[in-house]
Amino acid sequence: MAIQRVKGTHDIYGDDSYKYRYVSDLFKAVGELYGYGEMTTPVLEYTEVFQRGTGESSDIVRKEMYTFDDKGHRSVTMRPEFTAGVMRAFIANKLYGNNDVPYKYYYYGPAFRYERPQLGRFREFHQFGIEALGLDSSYLDAEVVLLAAQAFAMLGFENISIKINTLGDEESRNNYRNALKEFFTQHIDHMCPDCKERLDLNPLRILDCKVPEDHEIAMEAPKMKDYLSEASEKRFYETLSILNEYGIDYEIDDSLVRGLDYYSEMVFEIHLLSSDGKDYGALCGGGHYGQLVKELGGPDMAGVGFAAGVERIVSLMDDEHLFDGLETGVDLYIMPCSENEVLKALEIAQYTRAFGYSTDTPLAKVKMGTQFKKALRKNAKVALIVGESEVENSTVQVKNLLTEEQKEVAMEELIPTLDQIFGEGSHHHHH
Ligand code: HAM
Repeated sequence: MAIQRVKGTHDIYGDDSYKYRYVSDLFKAVGELYGYGEMTTPVLEYTEVFQRGTGESSDIVRKEMYTFDDKGHRSVTMRPEFTAGVMRAFIANKLYGNNDVPYKYYYYGPAFRYERPQLGRFREFHQFGIEALGLDSSYLDAEVVLLAAQAFAMLGFENISIKINTLGDEESRNNYRNALKEFFTQHIDHMCPDCKERLDLNPLRILDCKVPEDHEIAMEAPKMKDYLSEASEKRFYETLSILNEYGIDYEIDDSLVRGLDYYSEMVFEIHLLSSDGKDYGALCGGGHYGQLVKELGGPDMAGVGFAAGVERIVSLMDDEHLFDGLETGVDLYIMPCSENEVLKALEIAQYTRAFGYSTDTPLAKVKMGTQFKKALRKNAKVALIVGESEVENSTVQVKNLLTEEQKEVAMEELIPTLDQIFGEGSHHHHH
């Protein structure tokens, strides 16, 4: 029996790999557009990075981490998210030395959470995200939301819904936490065991509880907005007014608290149902964090960022036909007419590859009909056919597979002819 993949993981190949690359490349390009530079951190970190960073009271740290002792008996964890690891790298490499604030990083790669697999929820999934550090500003909070909104617009989404909220500064959150503790203490006997634990760890987490009865109780709980300090309220409205200025639609959602412990002030998520009503969950989530860098042993500086779930985005783009027209495969398929031209076909393949044309050739004797089918499956736009007489005359048959036009072209005219067919710069794989 074939060995199965690990539950909650998936293989990416064929057209899907073009889709994942398209989405990750677009996010990276938008990151660059906003002045972010790429940071790649290890999948494996010492477990304390996430315990102290992502937070002891989060569901992620409490029950979803892939944690094990390595052979040197150190507890390591496969990252469940990037933010804590990026902070660890930022601090360990002393990247805060110059005064070039904000320090801006984007990242892309796999993350791991032991969750129950379901629609849009995997145990290994991919995130693109950004973090901006060292400038504590409502303007920066707004710019991060603008970046996310622009990325989704560029992917072709038209009706994304941005939910936004503020968790306030430390004082606001302490007051709110106390109010929640008082409220939930009266109801905790009727609530789930998880919530009983959450009451001590962080009563804010109870607001996320998925148990319907608990959710009903949580609806009656005190609201953050009644505990906001004046400064936090002002800061939040500054951010919102910038979003207004740029025509970004959002909905203030005072039940949005986010599942990770490090947030303060502005938090946001992006949601969208498919046109036939499928809900993959949040496509993207993030916010501001005031204490995380310091808590991990770095200087006292704030940060803000988000991460987007690439599996969810790819699925939704598939449903909404946003990948239609995505170019996959090769530019050219080189077809030897018989065994004798197989090597010549390789020579032409190498020659065209040197000019940047992506090219495939069977490297074996294959019937012409089969070669045309292969060319079709590879989405080749042009077939180059070589037979005995073409070898003799130093020519090649150039067949445009879209228009069916075919002509014999001298080898030294081949590249100019291809450049003309593909149109300077506009052909898809010609870099
Ligand atoms: P998060 O909300 O836990 O935030 O994850 C961000 C996004 O990752 C989610 O909105 C979702 O699209 C995707 N995602 C999360 N879990 C799964 C899963 N099991 N399967 C598929 N997709 C998933 C963070 O990770 C924070 N580090 C974001 C952040 C960056 N905040 C500030 N900076």
